[in-house]
Amino acid sequence: MSAINRQWTLVKRPEGDDFAAALKWQETPKPVPQVGQALVRTVSLSLDPANRLWMKEEPSYIPPVPLGGPMWGGIIGIVEESRTPEYTPGELVTGLGGWADYKLAGPGEMSKVTPIPGVPLTAFQSVLGATGLTAYFGLLDVAKPKAGETLVVSAAAGAVGSIVGQLGKIKGCNVIGIAGSAEKCARLVHEFGFDHAIDYRKEDVRARLAELAPARADGGGGVDMYFENVGGEIGNAVYENLAMRARIVLCGLISQYNTVGTPVGADLTKVLMRRATMHGYLILDYFSRAPEAVAELAGWVAEGKIRYDEDIVDGLEHTLEAFKRLFAPGGAHTGKLIVQVSEPTL
Ligand SMILES: NC(=O)c1ccc[n+]([C@@H]2O[C@H](COP(=O)([O-])OP(=O)(O)OC[C@H]3O[C@@H](n4cnc5c(N)ncnc54)[C@H](OP(=O)(O)O)[C@@H]3O)[C@@H](O)[C@H]2O)c1
Repeated sequence: MSAINRQWTLVKRPEGDDFAAALKWQETPKPVPQVGQALVRTVSLSLDPANRLWMKEEPSYIPPVPLGGPMWGGIIGIVEESRTPEYTPGELVTGLGGWADYKLAGPGEMSKVTPIPGVPLTAFQSVLGATGLTAYFGLLDVAKPKAGETLVVSAAAGAVGSIVGQLGKIKGCNVIGIAGSAEKCARLVHEFGFDHAIDYRKEDVRARLAELAPARADGGGGVDMYFENVGGEIGNAVYENLAMRARIVLCGLISQYNTVGTPVGADLTKVLMRRATMHGYLILDYFSRAPEAVAELAGWVAEGKIRYDEDIVDGLEHTLEAFKRLFAPGGAHTGKLIVQVSEPTL
């Protein structure tokens, strides 16, 4: 194995999407584990929109990534050396690591990954990882779908959104996805089984939703649940079409993560008029219940009821250009974005 640790160092807080100025490629000696630590080599690195929030000066749900060190990210890794009984060389682990070849893991920092025969290891970062769990608990525990209800999800062709929509179909809902290209919309309907898809870059989302989820006698629209991943104008267009007592899972606001200054606020007038419930939701609060979700999701994947896309980029050196793709409306990215860094063997 290499004696070098390649890493993307956060040297300044990015302005907008100027990631090239904020992150610099550096090569340092491979770190040496002290007593109580293990040396973990990164096998695959999850790239998530939330990483952009972690780069900011203000804390999100974790402290800001310190300047001068590696950018943080979720990893699957293999233990190369260990000076603690907690980790055994050759073992696969997952947890918070860096945009780097190596991490020194202390007590309790990483949890073990038990591969499932026939399931790629990367699935533990996509459908069976935080992404799948986000969709699972956000929809099933927060929104609590009932058969026959209308569910709308934005960033629907992405990692979280594509699973949310399929879970909605399993629960018997009428599912409408909002995505950024005709190709993505076709995939939502023909591959993922959504009932309808709206291309927000070509179509009037407000008007299309009024057609697909028409107003009801009680004065509301027809959207019973909205899984919000985007915010901004897309969110506002959905709020206009909310049913009375609608439930909104506020999962993400990707359209605002690169905004310099304060983002333009949502128009919540209809949320008020329709007496909707908006629930700020972080998967962090559900990690202790991961086993039940993983078991059920793995079952649905095995039965072919849930399909999942992975967008796997080969090589740590391509991390920065890959990360930018998350923030490209209508870009080529679909499904879970993962960087393959090394092989999962010693
Ligand atoms: N609350 C939680 O615990 C939690 C956990 C995981 C993720 N999330 C949130 O879930 C959302 C989706 O995350 P993901 O990992 O599944 O990413 P993703 O959907 O796989 O990728 C992001 C997608 O967002 C869309 N997008 C990017 N910039 C946009 C903009 N300015 N306007 C409209 N759409 C834009 C793009 O799709 P189009 O081509 O369709 O525009 C892009 O492909 C994010 O908001 C993320 O922060 C929350």
